[in-house]
Amino acid sequence: MALPFFPKTATTIRERCRADAATKLRLRYAPYYLAMEAQAGVNVRLNGRELIMLASNDYLGLTTHPRVVEAARAALLKWGTSPTGARSSNGSRAYHLELEEKLASFLGREACHVHAAGYLSCLSAVAAFAQKGDLVFADKNIHSCLWDGLRLSTATVERFSHNNPDDFRTVAMASDIASSPKMLVIEGVYSMEGHIARLPEIMAVARAYQCFTVLDDAHGFGVLGRGGRGTADHFNLNADVDIVCGSLSKSLASTGGFVAGSRELIEFLRTHGKQTIFSAALSPSQAAAASAALDVLQTEPQHLIRLWQNTKKYTAMLKSLGLDTWGSETPAVPIVLGTKERAYYFWQALQEKGVFTVMSIAPAVPVGKDLIRTAISAQHSDEHLDRIADAMAYAVKKI
Ligand SMILES: Cc1ncc(COP(=O)(O)O)c(C=O)c1O
Repeated sequence: MALPFFPKTATTIRERCRADAATKLRLRYAPYYLAMEAQAGVNVRLNGRELIMLASNDYLGLTTHPRVVEAARAALLKWGTSPTGARSSNGSRAYHLELEEKLASFLGREACHVHAAGYLSCLSAVAAFAQKGDLVFADKNIHSCLWDGLRLSTATVERFSHNNPDDFRTVAMASDIASSPKMLVIEGVYSMEGHIARLPEIMAVARAYQCFTVLDDAHGFGVLGRGGRGTADHFNLNADVDIVCGSLSKSLASTGGFVAGSRELIEFLRTHGKQTIFSAALSPSQAAAASAALDVLQTEPQHLIRLWQNTKKYTAMLKSLGLDTWGSETPAVPIVLGTKERAYYFWQALQEKGVFTVMSIAPAVPVGKDLIRTAISAQHSDEHLDRIADAMAYAVKKI
């Protein structure tokens, strides 16, 4: 059965929305926006059923860590629920500065700025620095927040094939590189594919073209590098990257985002980034949770060790079942099914067996790459992994 997810034509916006709603109603299975009734680490409850969460970005499993929970609670009691405004006006607080100093020092950067969402941080990291007339080279598969930042910047954008330094060089050579400032926008770990950026080769090209480099390390921070210092650190290329941005909602068990770089660059962001200037600041409890999670990351290496043990075991199991993991090298592991129908039935079979994953279909992924996105956490126990293996074997049979 073909599953028509997106209505193609409409003459008014209301008509488009009505057609979309009718499609969803007819299908009665839209696998998005499912609200869990309970969550305890990687155990969640959906429609009264206990499921193993295999799709969260809580890589280190710190959302229930006692130190993290207690820090968030204490901040809430001390500061209340909200900073009540933007950092640029009335919303700057001591806890923002404390978190920024900790993040900057962990990343070996002079300065850092935190936002209320990773999306805002990464968008701002691009939009604040690139301007009309600049030339930006971007990996085709970067996250939508970076594309939005590029659109807002009105800079000229040239895309190169995903994680392909040779194509980056070809595109750069064919571009009008005359005298305009140039930027490179990439991710450290690509969240959908689980690929690690080929940073040494990519930076060699970036250096040749004097590109200012923005690296979104939402999925590399806390996962790669010395003690989780991220992708640039993993390759010992910290000095080559001008701006590292990312999210506090993955390894740091919170919500919010950060942009880190030299003091001069972060001051520029603070006075030129519209999202930085005009959006309310990160809340006290979320800042405190991220700050405590960063302490845990630095003092309890067992979480990162466990994450990688789990990742290796899980990826090997998927391969033994003949599943296509798109060459993932990280805890973000896609299972490529190739069509939205196969992806849907695979997703459904996993859930039948008590495993929650996320379906990602075109246009969120390239055509023919419709997939199930899974992500491993340090909190998955051996028993979880065994149950996940059984569910995968069942889903393979089912499709
Ligand atoms: C690569 C990347 N950048 C930025 C973001 C935005 O982060 P947040 O969800 O914390 O707003 C995400 C979120 O999934 C992401 O995957």
